[in-house]
Amino acid sequence: MSLPRSTVQSLLASQELDRDVLVKGWVRSRRGNKYVQFIIVNDGSTLHTIQAVANAELFPEESLKDVANGAAVAIWGRLVASQGKGQAVEIQAAEITVLGKADPETYPLQKKATSLEFLREIAHLRPRTNTFGAVLRIRHALAFAVHQYFNDHGFFYVHTPIITGSDAEGAGQMFRVTTLPPEHPPRTAAGAVDYSQDFFGKQTNLTVSGQLEGELAAMALGSIYTFGPTFRAENSNTARHLAEFWMIEPEVAFNELEENMDLAEDFLRYLVRYALERCADDLQFLNDQYDKDLLGRLRSVVENDFQRLTYTEAVEILKSAKQKFEFPVDWGTDLQSEHERYLVEKHFEKPVILTNYPKEIKAFYMKLDDDGRTVRAMDVLFPGIGEIIGGSQREEDYAKLTARMAEMHVPADELDWYLDTRRFGTAPHAGFGLGFERLVLFVTGMGNIRDVIPFPRYPKNAAF
Ligand code: 4AD
Ligand code: MG
Repeated sequence: MSLPRSTVQSLLASQELDRDVLVKGWVRSRRGNKYVQFIIVNDGSTLHTIQAVANAELFPEESLKDVANGAAVAIWGRLVASQGKGQAVEIQAAEITVLGKADPETYPLQKKATSLEFLREIAHLRPRTNTFGAVLRIRHALAFAVHQYFNDHGFFYVHTPIITGSDAEGAGQMFRVTTLPPEHPPRTAAGAVDYSQDFFGKQTNLTVSGQLEGELAAMALGSIYTFGPTFRAENSNTARHLAEFWMIEPEVAFNELEENMDLAEDFLRYLVRYALERCADDLQFLNDQYDKDLLGRLRSVVENDFQRLTYTEAVEILKSAKQKFEFPVDWGTDLQSEHERYLVEKHFEKPVILTNYPKEIKAFYMKLDDDGRTVRAMDVLFPGIGEIIGGSQREEDYAKLTARMAEMHVPADELDWYLDTRRFGTAPHAGFGLGFERLVLFVTGMGNIRDVIPFPRYPKNAAF
C-alpha cells in the first residue's frame, strides 16, 4: 500500500471518513482484551492521540508484543467514526509495522509519574511527553509570530554576528571563543597570552546582544529586528536565567521612548493573542495540568493596557509598601525581582513599564534625560516573570555618548565603528530586547526557564 502518511492532527480534524489512511508515530499505550487491542499513537503534530483498533482475528496478541509504549509504528487502516467514547474518529487497523522497538524494561518514559526535574535529566527524550510537546509547539508558534509581526509592520530581519570581536556592551560576562591550545598558548614577551596568534588575530567572544550591530542597520534600513542566540556567562542559577538564550531586538530609527513603549506593548499583546488563538489545545492542557490561572493571566495581558511609570515613582511605591523585602530599596539601587513582582502582581495587578532609571545602573548607550541623573530606559515587567523586556532610547549625541563611555570606562577605540553612526547622519532612535524564553515561560506558565528551551544551558550543565 503506498498511501501518503497523514498526521494525527489532520486525521482528527478530518470530515472525510471511511477511507484508507496511514499514520506513523510513537505508541503512548496499548490495552484491551483477547478480542481487541487499542493502540494509542501520538506523532507530535498535536497534543492529541489517535486510537487504532486491532481485532484479534487479524492481530493475535503475540503479533503485537513489540507494539509497546515508546515504540515507533506505522499503522494502515480505515478511518472510521469511533464506536467508543473519548474520540470522534479512530483507525480500524489493517496492517501494523513496528519501525523501531522500545524495550519497556529500559524506556525511561513509562507511565509512572515523571517530575519536571527528572525530565530535565532526560531532556533528549522529554519532547515525547505531552508537556514538552505542548511547550515546543507553543515555542514554535511564538517564534513564527515574531517574524509575522515584524514583517507585517515593515521591519527587516537582520542577522548580527554570534562571534563578536568587541566585549564592550557590558550586558554580561562573556564566553571566550578561541582555538589556542589551553595547555600551552603562545605568549608575548611579557608573558601574557598572545591573542594575535588566535584564529581571528584577536580576542573574540560569544555575543551578549545584537543591539550595537542592530543600531547600525536601523540607521540604514529604518526599522529592523534581530532574533538570535545570546550568551551570558553570569553565574545566575535561577529559574529565569539561561547561559544560552534567544533574544529579539527591534531597533527603530527616529523612534523616541514613547514610541518604543508603544511598540513593546503592541508587540507583546500580539504575541500573547497569537498563542491564545493558535495554540488553544496546548494552552488548555498546560492550564489544566499545572496552572489554573494561566489562560486568565494571558487574557488579561491582551485586554489591559500596561501601567507606565518612572523608576522614581516606583521607588516611592516600594518604600511605602507594607511588604517586607529581602533587599532594601532606595533611589539609585537596582530593582530586584521581588520588587518588580510586587509592583506587577500586588500593586498594579497588570504588566508595568518602568522608565527613566538612574544612569548609574543602566548601560552607557542610553539617552541621558535633561536632568542629567536618569536615562531614557524602559523595562517591561510581567506577572510571574519580572523583567521580560529591557530597552531604551539611545544617546544619539556624539559628545554626550563619548562622555558617558569615558565615565563608565567603555573603551572608545574598540567601538569606533559604533560611534560612526553618531558621526554621520545621527538621529534619535530606540529599541529593546525581549528574552524569548522569558516570553515562552510566561505564555506556557511553566515555572522554570530550563523547561521552555529544548536543551538548556546553565552553570554546570551543558548536557546533550
Ligand atoms: O536587559 P537586557 O540585558 O538588554 C539588552 O541586552 C539590550 N541590548 C536590549 C536592547 O535594548 N536591544 O536583556 C534583554 C532581555 C531581558 O529583559 C530578559 O528578558 C532577557 O533579555 N534576558 C535573559 N533571558 C534569559 N536568561 C538570561 N540570562 C537573560 N538575560 C537577559
Ligand atoms: Mg535588563
